[in-house]
Amino acid sequence: MPSFLEALREGYSRDTLRAETPESIAEIAADPEAFIESQRNPPTTVTLPDGGQGAAVPSSVLWYVEGETFLGSFHVRHHLNENLEKVGGHVGYAVRPSARGNGHASAMLAEGLDYIRANLPLRRVLLTVNALNPASIKVIEKNGGVHTASVPHIWRPGETALHYWIAL
Ligand SMILES: CC(C)(COP(=O)(O)OP(=O)(O)OC[C@H]1O[C@@H](n2cnc3c(N)ncnc32)[C@H](O)[C@@H]1OP(=O)(O)O)[C@@H](O)C(=O)NCCC(=O)NCCS
Repeated sequence: MPSFLEALREGYSRDTLRAETPESIAEIAADPEAFIESQRNPPTTVTLPDGGQGAAVPSSVLWYVEGETFLGSFHVRHHLNENLEKVGGHVGYAVRPSARGNGHASAMLAEGLDYIRANLPLRRVLLTVNALNPASIKVIEKNGGVHTASVPHIWRPGETALHYWIAL
Protein backbone atom coordinates (compact mmCIF):
# COMPACT_ATOMS: atom_id res chain seq x y z
CA MET A 1 0.00 0.00 0.00
CA PRO A 2 2.77 2.58 0.71
CA SER A 3 4.12 1.96 -2.80
CA PHE A 4 0.64 2.40 -4.33
CA LEU A 5 0.26 5.76 -2.56
CA GLU A 6 3.73 6.77 -3.75
CA ALA A 7 2.67 5.91 -7.33
CA LEU A 8 -0.48 8.06 -6.98
CA ARG A 9 1.63 10.96 -5.70
CA GLU A 10 4.03 10.72 -8.63
CA GLY A 11 1.18 10.91 -11.18
CA TYR A 12 -0.20 7.38 -11.65
CA SER A 13 -3.99 7.56 -12.02
CA ARG A 14 -6.53 4.77 -11.59
CA ASP A 15 -8.52 6.20 -14.50
CA THR A 16 -6.77 7.23 -17.70
CA LEU A 17 -9.53 9.76 -18.42
CA ARG A 18 -9.26 11.49 -15.05
CA ALA A 19 -6.23 12.54 -13.05
CA GLU A 20 -6.05 11.94 -9.33
CA THR A 21 -6.40 14.99 -7.07
CA PRO A 22 -4.87 15.69 -3.65
CA GLU A 23 -8.35 14.93 -2.25
CA SER A 24 -8.74 11.56 -4.05
CA ILE A 25 -5.29 10.49 -2.84
CA ALA A 26 -5.97 11.68 0.72
CA GLU A 27 -9.21 9.65 0.78
CA ILE A 28 -7.30 6.44 -0.06
CA ALA A 29 -4.52 7.23 2.41
CA ALA A 30 -7.07 7.88 5.18
CA ASP A 31 -8.71 4.43 4.86
CA PRO A 32 -6.56 1.99 2.86
CA GLU A 33 -8.64 -1.01 3.96
CA ALA A 34 -11.87 0.47 2.61
CA PHE A 35 -10.06 1.25 -0.63
CA ILE A 36 -8.77 -2.31 -1.00
CA GLU A 37 -12.25 -3.65 -0.34
CA SER A 38 -13.59 -1.35 -3.10
CA GLN A 39 -11.03 -2.87 -5.47
CA ARG A 40 -12.06 -6.41 -4.57
CA ASN A 41 -15.78 -5.63 -4.79
CA PRO A 42 -16.15 -2.63 -7.09
CA PRO A 43 -19.22 -0.45 -6.53
CA THR A 44 -22.22 -0.83 -8.84
CA THR A 45 -22.18 2.84 -9.84
CA VAL A 46 -19.35 4.74 -11.43
CA THR A 47 -18.51 8.43 -11.77
CA LEU A 48 -18.32 9.08 -15.49
CA PRO A 49 -15.58 11.26 -17.02
CA ASP A 50 -18.13 14.13 -17.32
CA GLY A 51 -18.78 13.96 -13.57
CA GLY A 52 -22.20 12.26 -13.86
CA GLN A 53 -23.11 8.91 -12.34
CA GLY A 54 -23.62 5.78 -14.40
CA ALA A 55 -24.19 2.08 -13.85
CA ALA A 56 -20.90 0.22 -13.51
CA VAL A 57 -20.45 -3.06 -15.35
CA PRO A 58 -18.78 -5.87 -13.34
CA SER A 59 -15.01 -5.51 -13.47
CA SER A 60 -11.76 -6.85 -12.01
CA VAL A 61 -8.62 -4.90 -11.16
CA LEU A 62 -5.20 -6.57 -11.06
CA TRP A 63 -2.08 -4.93 -9.68
CA TYR A 64 1.26 -5.45 -11.37
CA VAL A 65 3.95 -5.54 -8.68
CA GLU A 66 7.60 -6.38 -8.18
CA GLY A 67 8.07 -7.50 -4.59
CA GLU A 68 6.60 -4.67 -2.51
CA THR A 69 6.74 -2.18 -5.39
CA PHE A 70 3.55 -1.26 -7.22
CA LEU A 71 4.30 -0.82 -10.95
CA GLY A 72 0.88 -0.53 -12.55
CA SER A 73 -2.64 -1.85 -12.87
CA PHE A 74 -4.74 -3.83 -15.31
CA HIS A 75 -8.50 -3.45 -15.43
CA VAL A 76 -10.97 -5.75 -17.20
CA ARG A 77 -14.68 -5.11 -17.55
CA HIS A 78 -16.64 -8.31 -17.88
CA HIS A 79 -18.91 -6.95 -20.58
CA LEU A 80 -19.51 -3.72 -22.49
CA ASN A 81 -22.28 -1.13 -22.31
CA GLU A 82 -23.22 1.66 -24.71
CA ASN A 83 -20.50 4.06 -23.50
CA LEU A 84 -17.78 1.40 -23.26
CA GLU A 85 -18.50 0.27 -26.83
CA LYS A 86 -17.43 3.76 -27.90
CA VAL A 87 -14.65 4.59 -25.43
CA GLY A 88 -13.31 2.39 -22.64
CA GLY A 89 -13.70 -1.09 -24.05
CA HIS A 90 -13.09 -4.19 -21.96
CA VAL A 91 -9.49 -3.56 -20.96
CA GLY A 92 -7.55 -0.64 -19.49
CA TYR A 93 -4.11 -0.38 -17.94
CA ALA A 94 -1.61 2.13 -16.61
CA VAL A 95 2.02 2.06 -15.50
CA ARG A 96 3.29 4.48 -12.85
CA PRO A 97 5.33 7.30 -14.45
CA SER A 98 8.68 6.31 -12.90
CA ALA A 99 8.39 2.76 -14.29
CA ARG A 100 7.43 3.60 -17.89
CA GLY A 101 9.58 2.70 -20.89
CA ASN A 102 10.69 -0.67 -19.49
CA GLY A 103 8.23 -2.94 -21.28
CA HIS A 104 5.96 -3.29 -18.23
CA ALA A 105 2.73 -2.36 -20.04
CA SER A 106 3.41 -4.84 -22.84
CA ALA A 107 4.11 -7.62 -20.31
CA MET A 108 1.17 -6.61 -18.11
CA LEU A 109 -1.28 -6.69 -21.03
CA ALA A 110 0.02 -10.13 -22.09
CA GLU A 111 -0.45 -11.47 -18.54
CA GLY A 112 -3.81 -9.75 -18.22
CA LEU A 113 -5.04 -11.43 -21.40
CA ASP A 114 -3.98 -14.79 -19.91
CA TYR A 115 -6.00 -13.91 -16.80
CA ILE A 116 -9.08 -13.23 -18.97
CA ARG A 117 -8.62 -16.49 -20.90
CA ALA A 118 -8.50 -18.39 -17.61
CA ASN A 119 -11.28 -16.57 -15.76
CA LEU A 120 -13.84 -14.97 -18.07
CA PRO A 121 -16.02 -16.30 -20.87
CA LEU A 122 -14.78 -13.72 -23.39
CA ARG A 123 -13.52 -14.78 -26.83
CA ARG A 124 -12.24 -11.35 -27.82
CA VAL A 125 -11.73 -8.02 -26.06
CA LEU A 126 -12.12 -4.41 -27.16
CA LEU A 127 -9.41 -1.89 -26.28
CA THR A 128 -9.90 1.77 -27.09
CA VAL A 129 -6.97 4.13 -27.21
CA ASN A 130 -6.63 7.84 -27.84
CA ALA A 131 -5.00 8.48 -31.24
CA LEU A 132 -2.62 10.82 -29.33
CA ASN A 133 -1.23 7.92 -27.24
CA PRO A 134 1.44 6.25 -29.43
CA ALA A 135 2.99 4.27 -26.54
CA SER A 136 -0.31 2.53 -25.78
CA ILE A 137 -1.02 1.93 -29.47
CA LYS A 138 2.32 0.14 -29.67
CA VAL A 139 1.55 -1.93 -26.56
CA ILE A 140 -1.80 -3.03 -28.06
CA GLU A 141 -0.34 -3.86 -31.47
CA LYS A 142 2.48 -5.89 -29.86
CA ASN A 143 -0.24 -7.95 -28.16
CA GLY A 144 -2.09 -8.77 -31.37
CA GLY A 145 -4.56 -5.87 -31.45
CA VAL A 146 -6.33 -5.35 -34.78
CA HIS A 147 -7.46 -1.81 -35.57
CA THR A 148 -11.13 -1.89 -36.58
CA ALA A 149 -12.42 1.70 -36.25
CA SER A 150 -11.58 5.30 -35.42
CA VAL A 151 -14.43 7.15 -33.71
CA PRO A 152 -14.97 10.60 -32.16
CA HIS A 153 -13.86 10.50 -28.51
CA ILE A 154 -17.08 10.82 -26.47
CA TRP A 155 -15.32 12.33 -23.44
CA ARG A 156 -12.72 14.49 -25.24
CA PRO A 157 -14.35 16.62 -27.94
CA GLY A 158 -12.16 16.95 -31.03
CA GLU A 159 -10.05 13.90 -30.20
CA THR A 160 -10.24 10.45 -31.76
CA ALA A 161 -10.53 7.03 -30.10
CA LEU A 162 -9.10 4.06 -31.96
CA HIS A 163 -10.81 0.68 -31.56
CA TYR A 164 -8.67 -2.42 -31.38
CA TRP A 165 -9.86 -6.00 -30.86
CA ILE A 166 -7.67 -8.76 -29.51
CA ALA A 167 -8.81 -12.34 -30.19
CA LEU A 168 -8.37 -14.62 -27.20
C1 LIG B 1 0.76 3.79 -22.17
C2 LIG B 1 1.56 3.21 -21.01
C3 LIG B 1 0.69 2.17 -20.30
C4 LIG B 1 2.84 2.55 -21.56
O1 LIG B 1 3.52 1.94 -20.47
P1 LIG B 1 5.06 1.45 -20.63
O2 LIG B 1 5.31 0.48 -19.54
O3 LIG B 1 5.94 2.63 -20.73
O4 LIG B 1 4.98 0.69 -22.04
P2 LIG B 1 6.06 -0.30 -22.65
O5 LIG B 1 7.41 0.07 -22.09
O6 LIG B 1 5.57 -1.70 -22.49
O7 LIG B 1 5.98 0.00 -24.21
C5 LIG B 1 5.78 1.25 -24.74
C6 LIG B 1 6.18 1.18 -26.21
O8 LIG B 1 5.80 2.42 -26.80
C7 LIG B 1 6.95 3.06 -27.29
N1 LIG B 1 6.77 4.48 -27.11
C8 LIG B 1 6.81 5.19 -25.96
N2 LIG B 1 6.57 6.49 -26.22
C9 LIG B 1 6.36 6.57 -27.57
C10 LIG B 1 6.08 7.64 -28.45
N3 LIG B 1 5.93 8.89 -28.00
N4 LIG B 1 5.94 7.36 -29.77
C11 LIG B 1 6.05 6.10 -30.23
N5 LIG B 1 6.31 5.03 -29.44
C12 LIG B 1 6.47 5.29 -28.13
C13 LIG B 1 8.12 2.51 -26.50
O9 LIG B 1 9.33 2.64 -27.20
C14 LIG B 1 7.69 1.05 -26.37
O10 LIG B 1 7.93 0.36 -27.57
P3 LIG B 1 9.04 -0.83 -27.65
O11 LIG B 1 8.60 -1.88 -26.69
O12 LIG B 1 8.99 -1.29 -29.07
O13 LIG B 1 10.33 -0.19 -27.26
C15 LIG B 1 1.99 4.31 -19.98
O14 LIG B 1 2.58 5.36 -20.69
C16 LIG B 1 0.84 4.84 -19.15
O15 LIG B 1 0.51 4.30 -18.09
N6 LIG B 1 0.20 5.95 -19.61
C17 LIG B 1 -0.94 6.53 -18.89
C18 LIG B 1 -2.16 5.60 -18.92
C19 LIG B 1 -2.52 5.16 -20.32
O16 LIG B 1 -2.40 5.89 -21.29
N7 LIG B 1 -3.02 3.89 -20.41
C20 LIG B 1 -3.44 3.29 -21.67
C21 LIG B 1 -4.82 3.71 -22.00
S1 LIG B 1 -5.35 2.96 -23.54
